[in-house]
Amino acid sequence: MNIFLTGSTGFLGGELLVNLSKQKDVDKIYCLIRALSEADAIHRIEHIFDLHDDEYDRNKIIPIIGNLFDDKLTESLKTNKNLNDIDVIIHSAANTSFSRIYDDLVVRANIGGLQKILEWAKDLSHLSTFLYVGTATICGKDIKNRLIFEDESPNLQANHLVKYTYTKMQGEILLRQYLKEDQILIARPSIIMGDSRPWIPRSPVILWALATINLMRLVPIHPHYPLDIISVDYASNAIVQLLLAKRNYNVYHISSGKDSATTPFKVTKTIEAYFPERPPFHFVNKSMISQMKNWAKDRLQPGSELYNYQEYLDYWTNSFKDNGKLRILLYAIESYFEFIELGHVFDNTRLLQDVKIPASIPAETYIVNSLDFLEKIDVFEGAIDP
Ligand SMILES: NC(=O)c1ccc[n+]([C@@H]2O[C@H](COP(=O)([O-])OP(=O)(O)OC[C@H]3O[C@@H](n4cnc5c(N)ncnc54)[C@H](OP(=O)(O)O)[C@@H]3O)[C@@H](O)[C@H]2O)c1
Repeated sequence: MNIFLTGSTGFLGGELLVNLSKQKDVDKIYCLIRALSEADAIHRIEHIFDLHDDEYDRNKIIPIIGNLFDDKLTESLKTNKNLNDIDVIIHSAANTSFSRIYDDLVVRANIGGLQKILEWAKDLSHLSTFLYVGTATICGKDIKNRLIFEDESPNLQANHLVKYTYTKMQGEILLRQYLKEDQILIARPSIIMGDSRPWIPRSPVILWALATINLMRLVPIHPHYPLDIISVDYASNAIVQLLLAKRNYNVYHISSGKDSATTPFKVTKTIEAYFPERPPFHFVNKSMISQMKNWAKDRLQPGSELYNYQEYLDYWTNSFKDNGKLRILLYAIESYFEFIELGHVFDNTRLLQDVKIPASIPAETYIVNSLDFLEKIDVFEGAIDP
C-alpha cells in the first residue's frame, strides 16, 4: 500500500504517520509537508518520530514539500512521477481554528486546499481509497443533547457555530463531486483531547480548553451534559484499523459513543484533587459569561449575580493580576463553551461493528496521564493563537 498523507505534522496526523509506519501492509508514506527545503522537511518528520522515540524509516517515509495555499500544488503533484503509484490518500491537513479572525484561512485551507488535492487525486489510476478526516461536529448547532448518527450529515440546512465545521461539511460534499463512491472513506472524529498513554500528548489542542477551565474554576457551562471525547491514540488507531478493515459503510464516527462519553463534571472531578490550592470547581449558567466579561472590564453592575461568587473573584484577582488576561481567555474559550453546551454524542456502532477494536476509555479515566502536561500549558499563548 502506498499512502499520501497530509497534515502529518499535526496532532492527529503525527499519530497517524507513526501508526501507519508500523503497519506491514504499508510500503511507502509520502507526506505533504510545509517546509523551506528538503532538509527542513526531513527535520520536521524526525521531530514527529522523536517525540515518543519511534523508529523513523527514511526509505518508507518520504517528504513532499507543499502547501495547500499554493496555486501550483495540483500541478506539482501531477508531475511528480513518484506519486503515480499512490493507492491511498489520507487527508488530515486542515485549519482547525475556531477564531473568526482566521475564517478566511480556514476556508482557503479546508475547501480550497482539499480541492487542489482532489484535482490531482481524481486522475490517479491506482487510487482505491481517499480517506478524508472530517469532523462529527459538522452536524451543526441545531441538534442538542442527543445521540447523533452518521447519516444525519452532511446537511446543507445545518447552522454552524464556527466556519471550521462549515468548511469540513463542504469538504465532504466536494469529495463526492470528484471521486467515485467506492473510493470515498470519511472518518469523523468527535473531540480529540490528550493521549491515554502515560506520555506527553503531541499537542495541547483541546487540552488548552481544559487547562483554561482548570484555571478559571468558576465555569459557565452545564456540568452534566454529555461530552464525546476520545484520546488521540484511540482516534489514530481507529482510523488506521478502519482503513485496513472490511467496511460496510463509507462514513464512520470515530467517537466515544454513549457508553464512553464523559461530562464536564466527571473530568473536572478527576483533576480537582491534583490542584488543591485552587478553589473547587463550580458550574454556573452559561449566561454568566457576559457578567464575567464585564467584571474583567471593571464594568459589572452593582448587585449582579456574579458578586455572589466573591471567593472566585478574589481568586481571579490573585491569579490573573491583570484583568485584561482574563478577558483574552474569556473571548477565546467562549466558542468551546458553546460546543460543550450542545451535548452532542456521536453513535459509534458502525465503528465497533466493522473495526474490531474496543470502545474508547472515558476521558475522566485517561486524563490523569496528561496532568503534568496540562499544568505546563500556557493558556494565554493558546488564547492568542487558538
Ligand atoms: N483535534 C480535534 O479535536 C479534531 C476533532 C475532529 C476532527 N479533527 C480533524 O482532524 C484533522 C487533524 O486535526 P489536528 O487536530 O491534527 O490539527 P492540527 O494539529 O492543527 O494539524 C493540522 C495539520 O494540517 C497542516 N496544514 C494546515 N494548513 C496547511 C497548509 N496550508 N498546507 C499544508 N498543510 C497544512 C498542518 O501543517 P503545519 O504543521 O505546517 O502547520 C498540520 O500538519 C483535521 O482535518 C481536523 O478537522 C480534529
